[in-house]
Amino acid sequence: VKLTLADDRPPIPPADLILRVALSFDPETIDANRREFDLHGLKHLGYFERALAGIGHEFTDFERLLDFGCGCGRFLRHMGAFAEQVELHGVDIDGEMIAWCERNIPFATFATGPHAPPLPYPDHHFDLVINHSVFSHLDEHLQHLWLLELQRITRPSAVLLLTVEGTSSWNRTVEASASDDIEKWREELETRGVLFISDDHFVGSTHPDFYHSSVNAPWYVLERWPEYFDIAAYLPDGSITQDLVVLRRRDDGAEPPRSIGRRAHPVIVEVPAPVAPAPPRPPDLIARALARLERLIRRALGRRPAPVEPPAPPPPAGPQALPRPRNTPAGDAEADPVERELKMMRVGLYEQANRISVIASELRREMDELKGDPPGGNDAPPS
Ligand SMILES: C[S@@+](CC[C@H](N)C(=O)[O-])C[C@H]1O[C@@H](n2cnc3c(N)ncnc32)[C@H](O)[C@@H]1O
Repeated sequence: VKLTLADDRPPIPPADLILRVALSFDPETIDANRREFDLHGLKHLGYFERALAGIGHEFTDFERLLDFGCGCGRFLRHMGAFAEQVELHGVDIDGEMIAWCERNIPFATFATGPHAPPLPYPDHHFDLVINHSVFSHLDEHLQHLWLLELQRITRPSAVLLLTVEGTSSWNRTVEASASDDIEKWREELETRGVLFISDDHFVGSTHPDFYHSSVNAPWYVLERWPEYFDIAAYLPDGSITQDLVVLRRRDDGAEPPRSIGRRAHPVIVEVPAPVAPAPPRPPDLIARALARLERLIRRALGRRPAPVEPPAPPPPAGPQALPRPRNTPAGDAEADPVERELKMMRVGLYEQANRISVIASELRREMDELKGDPPGGNDAPPS
């Protein structure tokens, strides 16, 4: 079955009903533009058809279709050719629009619905729901109630095509609005995910009190709506000026798929504080190793231990130079070639050790900086 502008399609609705459902029409020129509304309906029914094709379906795959918030039949008017295969239904809270639909769209069944659930349908009744611009008028709580109700009246594996005001509608609002509230609204949308503007142009209109302007952030729909349905696709600008969300009803009792979480902040890897006492700082370590090496050499050579040196003053902050080794008594060093050799070795080793200790201090300081500690801040006192 092809979507076409059938010659025998129902009449175009009167201007006052069109103005209730389509804000883009100007009351001054609506009489001349009713035909546009007619073409508009067909064109945008094509958007639903395309969305269904995206998940491998066409209208005739379904037994029973509901247009939730059908208004004056913008879409159902063009579905006469499907009526033999698909049972067509429309529901709206606006009794006048439903009365017009009942009089003029004979191939579909209509009902006037309540402002809050339940709808007058049994559980699991529909396998396809289409919808344009109802959620874009409900606050978050009503959206929640209606998503639950749509879950009740659809059968497992049913497909739902629901629209929300998404990114591009929001951007148009920002561009068109001179309101001081834009930044406040943006913050609400970015933190809460649903922006409901209750002091809008619908105040004092023919619409009921709950009916205002609502924007859903795409991230909110993708994160929260899986509580009700599986999301088969999210199509920005997929229906007229709104985003189209393609949903599939899960089996009763089936758990929502576990989503891959989104963290608010990057994970900071904490560097654990050292539990064991910090090892001695390099200069002390090297000094002790050198002293031990010299003791071993002396013992191997049967030599006296090196003279005991007075304790060194506390090391200055920053890179520390090792104290220069003192010579053994002049007489010994001059007279004894082994002592002379040991002395040269000691001086050479201490010079190397000093270089190493300066490099080690530098490295330590850089590590402290990388860790964000004040230089030397984490060091244990020299042991
Ligand atoms: C912007 S109009 C769109 C109408 C229609 N879908 C169309 O595109 O022409 C929104 C419609 O949703 C209807 N509506 C609002 N809340 C509803 C509800 N809880 N149940 C059924 N219809 C509702 C309004 O009466 C109105 O006709």
